[in-house]
Amino acid sequence: MHEEIDIPGLMAALTLEEKATLLSGRDGWGTAGIERLGIPSITLTDGPHGLRMQDPRAASFSFDVSLPATCFPTAAALGSSWDVDLLTRVGAALGAESRAADVAVLLGPGINIKRSPLCGRNFEYLSEDPVISGRLGAALVRGVQSTGVGASVKHFAANNQETDRMRVSAEVDVRTLREIYLAGFEHIVTTAKPWTMMAAYNRVNGVYAAQNGWLLTEVLRDDWAFDGLVVSDWGAVTDPVAAVTAGLDLEMPSTNGGSAAQLVDAVKAGRIEEADLDRAVTRLLTLIERTAQGSGPVEKVDFAQHHTLARRAAAESAVLLKNDDAILPLDPDARMSVAVIGEFARTPTFQGGGSSRVNAVQVDNALDALAAAAGEHLRLSFSPGFALSGEEEPALLPEAVSAAEAADVAVVFLGLPEGMESEGHDREHLDLPDVQLRLLEAVARVNRDVVVVLANGGVVQVTSWERHAKAVLEGWLNGQAGGGAIADLLFGRANPCGRLAETIPLRLQDNPSHLNFPGTDGTVLYGERIYVGYRYYDAKDLPVGHPFGHGLSYTTFAYSDLRTEVDGEGEEAVVRARFTLTNTGPVAGKEVVQVYVGDVACSVDRPVRELKAFTKVELAPGRSTPVEFELRARDLSFFSPAHDRWVLEAGDFDISVGASSRDLRLTTTVTVAAPPPVLPLTLESLVREWLADPIGGPLLRQTLSRVRGSALAADPTILSMVESMPLSRLITMVGDRLDTGDITRFLEQTTAREP
Ligand code: BGC
Repeated sequence: MHEEIDIPGLMAALTLEEKATLLSGRDGWGTAGIERLGIPSITLTDGPHGLRMQDPRAASFSFDVSLPATCFPTAAALGSSWDVDLLTRVGAALGAESRAADVAVLLGPGINIKRSPLCGRNFEYLSEDPVISGRLGAALVRGVQSTGVGASVKHFAANNQETDRMRVSAEVDVRTLREIYLAGFEHIVTTAKPWTMMAAYNRVNGVYAAQNGWLLTEVLRDDWAFDGLVVSDWGAVTDPVAAVTAGLDLEMPSTNGGSAAQLVDAVKAGRIEEADLDRAVTRLLTLIERTAQGSGPVEKVDFAQHHTLARRAAAESAVLLKNDDAILPLDPDARMSVAVIGEFARTPTFQGGGSSRVNAVQVDNALDALAAAAGEHLRLSFSPGFALSGEEEPALLPEAVSAAEAADVAVVFLGLPEGMESEGHDREHLDLPDVQLRLLEAVARVNRDVVVVLANGGVVQVTSWERHAKAVLEGWLNGQAGGGAIADLLFGRANPCGRLAETIPLRLQDNPSHLNFPGTDGTVLYGERIYVGYRYYDAKDLPVGHPFGHGLSYTTFAYSDLRTEVDGEGEEAVVRARFTLTNTGPVAGKEVVQVYVGDVACSVDRPVRELKAFTKVELAPGRSTPVEFELRARDLSFFSPAHDRWVLEAGDFDISVGASSRDLRLTTTVTVAAPPPVLPLTLESLVREWLADPIGGPLLRQTLSRVRGSALAADPTILSMVESMPLSRLITMVGDRLDTGDITRFLEQTTAREP
């Protein structure tokens, strides 16, 4: 299908009322169409890790009534894969299923930063770090859109909690927004060109995201050149006129004509220009055109192939947190007995609750997958150990303990019960249910060879119980094929290669947002600023449960011979680095190489180190490969609110490569040249800032040297005292002995000077 739409012709033909009608939904998931002009309604539906297409035959709305679709691993899992190619493939599969269902826009990916481990939707988000969220989010967008379906990157922006999500104001300073909460969105917009973005429910610094002109126009369109459509989160708009004025293009879902009427009235009353509506309608027509053009014929979905991809993705995402005595992998051909314990082995929990909930085509469980893969000498037993309902079932514990006692190895499946992680509410703690921890402790008393397999979306606290297990495999909420993936990993058919995209703190109280989450009285202060996740733990040098980036493998890797070279300076600076990676262990495996940058000295506070690049490398045992990467000026810069732009300050930067934020294997220091950042000077600028300015400095010195009877300019002690004064204050104090003529003329000439 290839349809050209005559957008100027349609714009000329549409009445004001029709334009207003187009700017909010027809119903829950469809846009309004205009029949007389042949403008079709298109469908937008969830969600990030699988298509949730409401069953048109269902009598009423429910998250459980949707057409069968592949449930891929949730974003918490996919984020832990650190695998750009894999996510592109998952995105393409999501797109194919959407296209086959005639869905124009898939509502995902969700890339909000995991500010607090308590956020109830962390399972839908990729990472605590914007570089991971940006790179992997861009991969998903590219994949989805390669099929002719639009992606909707959500939730823009600073939607980092569920508590009071439709009203709360995230109070965040501009630097933190730019460096942490917006950077991932920026990367996706500028590199993957999503066709839509979803404006979040919450307010950002007092203004609803869906009505926030700074976010939707100044940042998104003026700074990042976004050329797609902004859709509201479902029900996010409180004032449709303010929304369109701010740059929102489509309000969802339907408001039963209410918003259209308000827009028409506002145009007639002169409170909004019809041109503002035209702009939004044009973007909607552009989206219709983009999605109608598609990419090739609609193909029947190959669910079996998607299931295989979901299994691979789940295997790539699991993180081996510990593996003492190399207890894993288990040999499926060994003569041994394995007690599989925990209801999750038989009845997996593999996705969270809310709008992302998928009606999975099929669901594998680990128990069946283990049984299918076990050799003839391996005996498996199963005991549920606990009930999913959370009710105490006293017989289950002793039964599981006897099974563990009789077995060579106990594999215990633990996790967060369904309902604990969902859209609409945050978690209250990071602990596994008591009944599960008591089970683990009892099993560990009778068997020293215990392996724990975890199923959860947001991180759980592991430190208090980890000693009971020799190995812990974090499987996440890993989608419909997760059971098979876990069996592959336990039996060594797949080698763990996931890495934590979120720090596991020692204790919830250590989390930097702890005293400011989820806020009070309708506001939440992002008081930790840029120190989110590992940026905080590393700055405070706090012990953590498991660091950001951590994850073991059944093999080992050595890093050697890091070399760097710097080309160019300032905005043009490029740091090229290269080192050798060697698989020094017994089997093939994948290493996630992480590149961290630390600014050695800077005029503003900066994190000790920040992830700036990563790559996943597969190596056969004994093999080596060169790994190269390139850092650009932006990777070395911070966002300066004073300059209202990214600033690269000249100086030394530590470049480290390693296997986690706390396992840096090689570090070198590079020196990068850059012109001094020039601040626009005013009378309120400090004397120090004047003196540092290449033009203002000499001018001020000369002016001061002319002050009668004063050693101001010549005496360094006096000068250092007044350096921290705003110039206006110095002028007042010196009085008419100071001739300000040159300074006034300079300020008049330079008001237009670019910062
Ligand atoms: C969620 C979005 C979702 C939308 C449509 C909202 O409640 O926040 O993520 O896409 O509903 O289901």
